[in-house]
Amino acid sequence: TIGIEGQQIATDRAMENIPGVQYSRLSFIVTNKEFDDDSPKNIEALKKAAEGYGWKVTAEALVPDEKRDIQRAIREQIAKGCELVLTTGGTGVALRDVTPEATADVCEKMLPGFGEQMRAVSLAKVPTAILSRQTAGVLGTCLIVNLPGKPRAIRECLEAVFPAIPYCIDLIEIGRAHV
Ligand code: MTE
Repeated sequence: TIGIEGQQIATDRAMENIPGVQYSRLSFIVTNKEFDDDSPKNIEALKKAAEGYGWKVTAEALVPDEKRDIQRAIREQIAKGCELVLTTGGTGVALRDVTPEATADVCEKMLPGFGEQMRAVSLAKVPTAILSRQTAGVLGTCLIVNLPGKPRAIRECLEAVFPAIPYCIDLIEIGRAHV
């Protein structure tokens, strides 16, 4: 464990695959310009994965692949008290794929390791994972993580970074509490 101003954080607990029940204010944002058939499947995959990790989904938004809409949605979820916002879709190379840019523009700090880890794990499974520009960052006390827009990719990417999420949220909140 490590101590920060009297608070003990069990790093071993945080880094284990223990469902993060206490980190439960989760939101997800699904981007899809056409609002086509993929969205319901992605929503279902996100909900299932979140439940598996013990997170309670308290908000969700379906928005077009437009930077301003994505940013507004991220801010709205944070205003609702969400500690974790997962986006899905819009991480690729098509003209309409702008989720990483929208994320980078609203965040105060970027966490490039999340994207690196998700790509590394995904590349071992599918060569086209190199096409995802997914990233993560922090705004206030909220962690925002981009996931690609496919159920399998959602599961695989979340599994790749899940162990770091509860600890990351712990650190953000402790940092804020002592500013
Ligand atoms: N990552 C995983 N784990 N599994 C996948 O099937 N698909 C890739 C990539 N990352 C994929 C993946 C593909 S085909 C694309 S185009 C990019 O994610 C971007 O997807 P997005 O634009 O839906 O975000």
